[in-house]
Amino acid sequence: MTRYSRIAGTGSYLPPRRLTNAELAADLATRGVETSDEWIVERTGIRARHFAAPDVTSSDLGVEAAKNALQAAGLQASDIDLIIVATSTPDMVFPSAACILQNKLGIAGCAAFDVQAVCSGFVYALTVADAMIRTGSASKALVIGAEVFSRILDFSDRTTCVLFGDGAGAVVLEASETPGILASDLHADGKHVGILCVPGNVSGGQILGDPLLKMDGQAVFKLAVGVLESAARATLAKANLTDADIDWLIPHQANIRIMQSTAKKLKMPLEKLIVTVDQHGNTSAASIPLALDAAVRSGKIQKGDTLMLEGVGGGFTWGAVLLKY
Ligand code: ACO
Repeated sequence: MTRYSRIAGTGSYLPPRRLTNAELAADLATRGVETSDEWIVERTGIRARHFAAPDVTSSDLGVEAAKNALQAAGLQASDIDLIIVATSTPDMVFPSAACILQNKLGIAGCAAFDVQAVCSGFVYALTVADAMIRTGSASKALVIGAEVFSRILDFSDRTTCVLFGDGAGAVVLEASETPGILASDLHADGKHVGILCVPGNVSGGQILGDPLLKMDGQAVFKLAVGVLESAARATLAKANLTDADIDWLIPHQANIRIMQSTAKKLKMPLEKLIVTVDQHGNTSAASIPLALDAAVRSGKIQKGDTLMLEGVGGGFTWGAVLLKY
């Protein structure tokens, strides 16, 4: 019998501190940085974001999302035999956020590791977990996207600091006799490192280079629009499906204009586009599972629906996962 993987439960967690655009703009004004709610809404669709307290880490956010996903799946932490955390803002250089999160869940022994593909991290992690489940290396996996991007923002750079937020989302992926994940498609092109990066690193006990996020927004925008369409089409072709078979499109929540343009290219009505970027900003690897969980809990997404998940981000990386919920 063919072995597949399917989502058994979803969860998410946002840190309590919520900043509207107006609140962020007022805060930035005290630093001499000028922006406005109008500019942010018009260019990005973002209205608010959450920021974690200074002592809260990605694994702190991720473990809460994981507990919610376990509860939704009707499982205990001890049932889990694989943990993958997608993050670019891990708690430490090492060990991985996944190992720290495993300990916070009160379990030990199962494989736990991080995947670093920036805003494509969750689709990368989900694809790896699916492959490990299908080949029999795991049966019940926690796949988590967790980020504290506020830690790597340059609050003197208005072109980037208004775009991002903190949060976590998670799914329990389990072995199943029926699909589940239908197809996935992952890519990277390292020649674009410079358009979206945090170039600093740790060396000899000091930070070498700049440890804050740098982005050429227009270059990212142009690349994102093209690759999101091609990844969706490649994934549909692998599953022998067409645009019309997609019930819900859940792209990486970076900018409403990129998301709407992808929906139009896939000939999808905008009502089928799941949008949380307005309330969360860009939470990088956490954005897709956060949006998925919001849509599941609101009752939009129902069992049996066909979902297209799409990531795009630093690397440059991009990819898609097509699944039956
Ligand atoms: N408030 C007010 N004005 C601003 C702000 C701000 N926060 N930021 C920039 N401006 C100004 C600029 O200085 C510029 O002024 P000028 O015309 O006088 O020079 C003007 O607004 C227009 O700036 P643009 O950069 O041309 O604005 P654009 O319409 O391209 O929007 C944005 C910028 C929102 C960043 C857009 O390019 C974008 O969304 N890019 C994609 C980002 C993305 O998708 N990232 C995903 C991956 S993230 C990851 O992997 C971590």
